[in-house]
Amino acid sequence: MAEVRDTTPAALVAKALARYEEVASVLRERLGRPLTFAEKVLYAHLRHPERAELERGVSWIELDPDRVAMQDATAQMALLQFMVADLPEVRVPTTVHCDHLIQAERGADDDLAAARVTNREVYDFLSSVSARYGIGFWEPGAGIIHQVVLEQYAFPGGMIIGTDSHTPNAGGLGMVAIGVGGADAVDVMVGDPFTVRMPRLIGVRLTGRPNGWTSAKDVILRVAEILTVKGGTGAVVEYFGPGARALSTTGKATICNMGAEIGATCSLFPADDHAVAYLRATGRDEIAALVEARLGSLEADPEVEEDPARYFDQVIEIDLDTLEPQIVGPATPDLGRGVGSIGREAREHGWPLELSSALVGSCTNSSYEDIARAASVARWASARGLRVRTPLLVTPGSERIRATIERDGLLRDLEAIGATVLANACGPCIGQWHRTDIEPGTTNSIITSYNRNFPRRNDGNAATLAFIASPEVVVAYALAGTLDFNPLTDELAGERLPEPEGLELPSAGLAREVRGFVAPPADGSAIEVRIDPASERLQVLTPFEPFEGGDLVGLVVLAKAVGKCTTDHISAAGPWLRYRGHLDNISRNLFLGVQNAFAAEPGHGWCQIHQADEPLPEIARHYRDAGQGWVMIGDENYGEGSSREHAAMEPRYLGARAIIARSFARIHETNLKKQGMLPLTFTDPADYERIERDDRVDLVGLDELAPDQPIRAVVHRPDGTSFDLELRHTFSEDQIAWFRAGSALNMIRQRHHH
Ligand code: F3S
Repeated sequence: MAEVRDTTPAALVAKALARYEEVASVLRERLGRPLTFAEKVLYAHLRHPERAELERGVSWIELDPDRVAMQDATAQMALLQFMVADLPEVRVPTTVHCDHLIQAERGADDDLAAARVTNREVYDFLSSVSARYGIGFWEPGAGIIHQVVLEQYAFPGGMIIGTDSHTPNAGGLGMVAIGVGGADAVDVMVGDPFTVRMPRLIGVRLTGRPNGWTSAKDVILRVAEILTVKGGTGAVVEYFGPGARALSTTGKATICNMGAEIGATCSLFPADDHAVAYLRATGRDEIAALVEARLGSLEADPEVEEDPARYFDQVIEIDLDTLEPQIVGPATPDLGRGVGSIGREAREHGWPLELSSALVGSCTNSSYEDIARAASVARWASARGLRVRTPLLVTPGSERIRATIERDGLLRDLEAIGATVLANACGPCIGQWHRTDIEPGTTNSIITSYNRNFPRRNDGNAATLAFIASPEVVVAYALAGTLDFNPLTDELAGERLPEPEGLELPSAGLAREVRGFVAPPADGSAIEVRIDPASERLQVLTPFEPFEGGDLVGLVVLAKAVGKCTTDHISAAGPWLRYRGHLDNISRNLFLGVQNAFAAEPGHGWCQIHQADEPLPEIARHYRDAGQGWVMIGDENYGEGSSREHAAMEPRYLGARAIIARSFARIHETNLKKQGMLPLTFTDPADYERIERDDRVDLVGLDELAPDQPIRAVVHRPDGTSFDLELRHTFSEDQIAWFRAGSALNMIRQRHHH
């Protein structure tokens, strides 16, 4: 499988594009109509294009992505799970990017050195597991996952999944790029398809061209205002029209990146001359030529642009000629307005006008064009002896971008007005910001060019009000030091600011040298994966036991969740994320957020062994250690929210045999099945009410478990009475095999060894 290890994947791209064209014509025929670009790319990755059902918002489709990318926080559990499958190497090209664990405090060099010490065991694990299984490894400091993917791996017509919500960034270069949970990444790495509901399609028609202070960032801020944070749920957002062709590739990437803020599955732009130029500037001439030869086809069929309402479920239009630069926030990205009115609004709401920090860059906005435009404002200011009135922090998206903007003097321009350059990593964008200038709890305003602004996101302080704008607008506000300023009309030092300007790509191309990448060796089988047995952050996973057969009798009821029970209630984030690579340690958070019908305090329950009220994770552990099986009872839509796999692994690890709920969130239900658990629903949802604290449950006839056949449960009351319940499941034949083997990964291991 040499091509999996190929890090200059022109051959892969050629193959993917050939399939793209072939499948597009098959599907155009089959559906009897023209196709949008998103449809073509999705269909090209269907495992069974000839027979897949494709009803939008309804059918579940199986896709084979071209690549997988993982950041260092989510990669830990995904790769520990991959190891359970015991395959010699990943079956789809995969990369790991160390960007999330570097804390911003003093500047790039110091912060990076500190991160290498604090996270050494994580980096040791990720680099060794990558080398072992044929995965490309990007060291800390090499860059932020989405920038590196755009520069190295993205190509029009391709598909990538990534274990990070802003993976859709690669849509700027015409990719279907979807942010997924670790369990999905594991599926694809072991050669199984990625399953997702066929998305709805939202078309965004852009006309005009950005001018003056308006940039690509303002397009997505405006889209967020129109569609709101929920408006893109279950949808792919496809941009088209003359305005799309007026935007740089990196500008398009910013728009697709922030499509995550409206809940979109992904966003994408068709390929155009900017895409070809970007591929060349990033040293991928061969791929550029492949794309250039197909420019007319790496976009929607022409009929779509003529009559978009026929082909999209929803169409919105934005005229770039009249779009004002936007500023959104605080607390949510869909609270938007033009820069002209933010001062008045802030005064009305009592938001502090004074800005305590201004931050530029991150995965969202650190392209050459972004920094060049921001630096042009800085240059004008330093020529007039001005410096920032608000501390300005700059996060380059990758080492390549950093080296390029240093080479071209842009960093110097920013430093000349007082900017501090941070490591090429997420830093304050993901809350990795050791902030000492503001006491926690103090209300203060900051402005960033990032993508998220909910409370605590950047500095952990719920009282910080975060506003988002383009990098050039952020620099203008850093110079003004206050929100009560309109960069378009107000003056600094007696002069109006000039309109920002900057090249889309440097004429000399991006810096050629790529630093921080470690290619896997041709044969990694002799490499030992480094996990310190004493580590509190990482732990080798022991495969779960196969189903022992027979009926499961006398299961106790751990708890009955009342109302919402999201994956966050099941496995809380926050400080627990430190243990995301250590199943035993992170399991100590199991169900801590759950409101249990049988206890007053959330996260508590009645321990049948100690006959006492105790925290649920402790009770579960007592049961497991005593060999006492248990079930969890759930309400409606159990397991909604983020797809984190820990929420399925932890109950399994602590001895749960089944989760019995009124209904499940589909992704979590599948995750439970993958871990060898039984997600079951009450045939009569009212039966939920009948389960009591001291009941014991038998699950009968599991040896005959079959698709569409209900399961019988017998509930025994402490007084000796009992009653029958009918439960349902959604297991397919294949999934039943997971249950019998103990987990989906056990299945793969068995298959591989036979
Ligand atoms: Fe995500 Fe920001 Fe990093 S959105 S990838 S945290 S730079």
